Amino acid sequence: MKERWSTPLIALHWLSAALLVGLVVVGFVMVDLPADTALRRGLGRAHSLTGVALGLLTLVRLVVRLRGPSPAPLPLAPLHRRGASFIQGLLYVGLFGMAATGVATAYRSNWHGYLEGAEPSPVFDGLRSRQVHEGLVAGLLVLVGAHVIGALVQQLRKGGTLRRIWPSLDASRLPPAVQPKEQVK
Ligand code: HEM
Repeated sequence: MKERWSTPLIALHWLSAALLVGLVVVGFVMVDLPADTALRRGLGRAHSLTGVALGLLTLVRLVVRLRGPSPAPLPLAPLHRRGASFIQGLLYVGLFGMAATGVATAYRSNWHGYLEGAEPSPVFDGLRSRQVHEGLVAGLLVLVGAHVIGALVQQLRKGGTLRRIWPSLDASRLPPAVQPKEQVK
């Protein structure tokens, strides 16, 4: 069994992480800008298109993940393993939820000329999908935090996590997982 995820999955993982950070930062910045300014409209368009792209990338990633081979399982306590899988599942749900509520918000507002930049800023206030979109961000950030902390804890305690997902061509220099029989009792 291989030690690392496939190159396409590693690329999709880090590209998704970068897009997510960008979307969250731009999302919070744009809603604080005065309405009907060119900058807010421009950021809104970039945010919407990037959000759709991330939703599609997540779909591709899920298909590649389910159809492709997985690396050898890491030595994990059963509770950690179950928790990590649960959080990864919820991350997919959260990302699809963000993309779906973003598209619903855009669709239900006067968004049609918005992407072309011809119309005044769309009105989102009071849209339920807009409120859910905002609420989901908090949940998604908590999940990302738990995902990162869980991975770092595994890396520090038994190693092997970063070696599977790190984009470096020379990831083999990262320490391998300590197998149970090698662990100091
Ligand atoms: C997939 C990941 C996405 C993330 C992480 C994300 C993140 C965010 C954040 C952080 C905000 C600001 C929330 C607030 O404090 O009010 C926001 C607002 C918004 N997002 Fe997204 N978003 C995503 C996808 C999308 C998509 C696909 C669309 C549309 C096609 C979209 C459209 C919007 C709109 C219309 C707003 C409100 C803008 C305003 O009130 O001026 N988002 N998003």
